[in-house]
Amino acid sequence: MSRGRIISVASGKGGTGKTTTTANLSVALGKLGYKVCAVDADLTMANLSLVMGIDDAPVTIHDVLAGKNTIDEAVYATAYENVHVVPAAVDWEHVIRADPRKLPDTIKELKKSFDYVLIDSPAGLQMDAMNAMLSGEEVILVTNPEISCLTDTMKVGIVLRKAGLAVLGFVLNRYGLSENDIPPDVAEEVMEIRLLAVIPEDPHVREATLEGVPVVAYKPDSPGAKAFMELAEKISRIAGLKAMVMG
Ligand SMILES: Nc1ncnc2c1ncn2[C@@H]1O[C@H](COP(=O)(O)OP(=O)(O)OP(=O)(O)O)[C@@H](O)[C@H]1O
Ligand SMILES: [Mg+2]
Repeated sequence: MSRGRIISVASGKGGTGKTTTTANLSVALGKLGYKVCAVDADLTMANLSLVMGIDDAPVTIHDVLAGKNTIDEAVYATAYENVHVVPAAVDWEHVIRADPRKLPDTIKELKKSFDYVLIDSPAGLQMDAMNAMLSGEEVILVTNPEISCLTDTMKVGIVLRKAGLAVLGFVLNRYGLSENDIPPDVAEEVMEIRLLAVIPEDPHVREATLEGVPVVAYKPDSPGAKAFMELAEKISRIAGLKAMVMG
């Protein structure tokens, strides 16, 4: 039985790139040979499966949270090597029947089958976001290079650390769009959290999103894709180190 790691992808503000990071990190870790499952835990605004090219899945995380199916029945293979997805429903009828409080226990079951379980969470600290984020044992924070975005993400980091999650660090996403962007070293100083990767603003990322193919598969040579690959390598090294320390 493999002892997988469960990592939440979280942020303070919405739209920072959590779903994009979850999708690309999943495909990138798959390319590195790890068995990965990406879970759409954004229960009211689900879009991870679309970004990963899965459409019309008959069983979703909502059916599992409604007690209708087991989590294993909601796992789908994707077009990407080693990468699986647990999709979410988008219709309100499914959303109201699902009990978000069951998320942590449900997601932890995936640990036995995968090397990495990545959780795409809603933004902020509301209950839905908390249930999703607390399903992880470790967390990657995603922020954009603006001060209010950094401080909001920092708050999330502090709360999750208090709750017992290991904060692996933060990803500075969409860097280079404006002259006023907060530089990586300053961001790291403000956040007091380790900087994991700088992902540049890259039009290929959005283009890939529209195609339903994560950019690491869509345009592997693009700056965005290369940055996500480096992030995956870094995460796997940190994970390896932590596993060694924890025995
Ligand atoms: N590095 C980047 N370069 C260009 N566009 C990007 C980049 N990262 C993300 N985007 C685009 O930004 C938009 C928002 O990204 P995404 O959906 O991943 O954010 P999110 O944090 O999951 O949002 P939400 O909080 O609503 O769930 C998407 O259209 C995506 O393609
Ligand atoms: Mg999202």
